[in-house]
Amino acid sequence: KNHLQIGILGFGTVGSGVLRILKHHEPKLNQVTGVSLRVKKVLVRDIDKKRGAIAEGIELTLDVDEIINDPEIDIVVEVMGSIDEAKNYIKKALKAGKHVVTANKDLIALHGNELVALAKENQCDLYYEASVAGGIPILRTIVDSLASDDIQKVFGIVNGTTNFILSKMTSEGKTYEAALKEAQELGFAESDPTNDVDGIDAARKMVILTRLAFGMNVELDQIETKGIRDLQQEDIQMAEKLGYKIKLIGSAIQIEENISVDVGPVLVPAKHPLASVQNENNAVFVVGAAVGETMYYGPGAGELPTANSIVSDLITVAKNIQLGTSGNVFSSYQHETSLAQDSE
Ligand code: NDP
Ligand code: HSE
Repeated sequence: KNHLQIGILGFGTVGSGVLRILKHHEPKLNQVTGVSLRVKKVLVRDIDKKRGAIAEGIELTLDVDEIINDPEIDIVVEVMGSIDEAKNYIKKALKAGKHVVTANKDLIALHGNELVALAKENQCDLYYEASVAGGIPILRTIVDSLASDDIQKVFGIVNGTTNFILSKMTSEGKTYEAALKEAQELGFAESDPTNDVDGIDAARKMVILTRLAFGMNVELDQIETKGIRDLQQEDIQMAEKLGYKIKLIGSAIQIEENISVDVGPVLVPAKHPLASVQNENNAVFVVGAAVGETMYYGPGAGELPTANSIVSDLITVAKNIQLGTSGNVFSSYQHETSLAQDSE
């Protein structure tokens, strides 16, 4: 094949970014994949919405079956959000033999195992790098680069909206409401920002990180989760005076045979690298028995950073198709003993 065709479900913040990167980086993408990546159709809810120059020449549809039943479409990119509807569409796409790339952490946290099994059953790829920490390639790092290690801790800032709110409240004295409104306008917040501010989005990302880093399935209700809704300007100022910053931290820590996972606001010493993570940026520490402490930093939300993770997944899918090795997913590794306990 000299080209692969893509159907995109959703033309919002992330969907627009995917179109922009595919267009602006086309020569490089052609070279690294060996094929041309073409968007054939995009699913939307409102066909009359103004979408700017990036939508020129793009065929829009209100009917998902026009994408799923199109035999020319090889890959479906799901960037519409929701749980039940997106799950239904992704299942249909996999059953129709389409490879799937998604940014949907809500869906992957809740139903990832079922979708992974379905992808393998249908020899389709399923990748979701954008679902955790936006533009930071943290999932690939864990499942590929750190596959050799025994991971002991994964922790950090995994929600851009709450970090943006806390940063603006700290450095600009903005109110919680004004900072949240700005995060929504910039496209960082979820369609229901409750998921961001109550720590649910971060908890879902910790489910995915725990699954991939420790090979362990943790349920959302097993994660003690606290958000930032009740934090007052005075709490932030008091923390500052005492030499701390308040950050919403997710952590998954191996304690003997168990993994303890939680999400909540934490007083971080001002000198700790996490204290200097500003605005929508995220930072994830991964501690391995062999490698020690590593830190991954970058934009945790937003159009182009998130879309870059989607397009990196598309490159992987395209390469797998070219090699005839489809049926790949991010898979987890389980190490039963830590390196420290080895006699060697
Ligand atoms: P938006 O709300 O900006 O866009 C959603 C898009 O999906 C819109 O184009 C909308 O159509 C379309 N859509 C929604 N529901 C339907 C439906 N039932 N049928 C057809 N089209 C539908 O969302 P984002 O781009 O911000 O987020 C998309 C996904 O990416 C979510 O899962 C989110 O959690 C995830 N994500 C987002 C990040 C970000 O920074 N924004 C970062 C990482 C992940 P219409 O335009 O017609 O309304
Ligand atoms: N709403 C999410 C956040 C988007 O603010 O982190 C990225 O997953």
